[in-house]
Amino acid sequence: MDDHGSILRSRAERQRQERRKKRLSFRLTLIFTVVTGMSLLLLSGVHLASDSPHTEGKKGRKNTAIALTKHKTIESDQNATKKESHTDEAEKIEVDTDPTSHTVLVNQTHPLPDGYVPPDLVIPDVPFPFRENLPKKQLRREAGEALEQLFAEAEKQGMRLYAQSGYRSYERQKELYAFKGNRAGGAANQVSARPGTSEHQTGLAMDITCSAVGFKLNRSFAQTREGRWVAEHAHQHGFIIRYPEGKEEITGYTYEPWHLRYVGKKMATELKRKNLTLEEYYEVDLQKK
Ligand code: DAL
Ligand code: ZN
Repeated sequence: MDDHGSILRSRAERQRQERRKKRLSFRLTLIFTVVTGMSLLLLSGVHLASDSPHTEGKKGRKNTAIALTKHKTIESDQNATKKESHTDEAEKIEVDTDPTSHTVLVNQTHPLPDGYVPPDLVIPDVPFPFRENLPKKQLRREAGEALEQLFAEAEKQGMRLYAQSGYRSYERQKELYAFKGNRAGGAANQVSARPGTSEHQTGLAMDITCSAVGFKLNRSFAQTREGRWVAEHAHQHGFIIRYPEGKEEITGYTYEPWHLRYVGKKMATELKRKNLTLEEYYEVDLQKK
């Protein structure tokens, strides 16, 4: 009985040991599977994060987020660079030096070609404070028509504008310059342009005035009703006040509220809106040669 009993006990003991072994091996397998699985998931998370900014695995979320941020930064850097070069392209406007163009830049550093005479000069149908048909009554056709419209609009508002001096040949500018010279002194603050550098030679500029200032060309014109109205509305007809107050160093000339320059409605409106002179628009610095 004892022998039989001990046989039974050792069999039960073996069976228990086998069950324990099986449980242990099952647990080890489970642990191995879980650890391997987790490691794989973790690795795949990092991989996904660094490869694709658009995939965010449940595991490795932090890495993905970091990677996303990094990617975004690069992207915005690229955009910034793109924008910069785009802006550069868009904003770096080539200086218009075609003398026949309505948007030409003529100033102290951008003279007209020798002997330039504009095409299509006409005498606009506007009031002049003198009768003689002098060459200075002339403007180029499109500018002349725009001046007629500007003056007609002023009439409608109860103001009478007068055209005093438009086209000037190189020779005429030479006489005026010799007479007036560089009265204000200093290249950055002139009153009269050297021959070949005056906008009046383009046929696109007209000096205007009114009876309140005795038809003179002086700063008082800016304070008249006419002068104020012109400063506000000239752009609607394609004109700009070419030498504004406060921009003497930029244009190179003293304030001339009477000097209108035709550039066309589009450009005049943009310059007015942005408060720019032609030098600023074309990014031309008179101090740099
Ligand atoms: N008074 C202007 C600057 C000219 O002489 O053209
Ligand atoms: Zn002028």
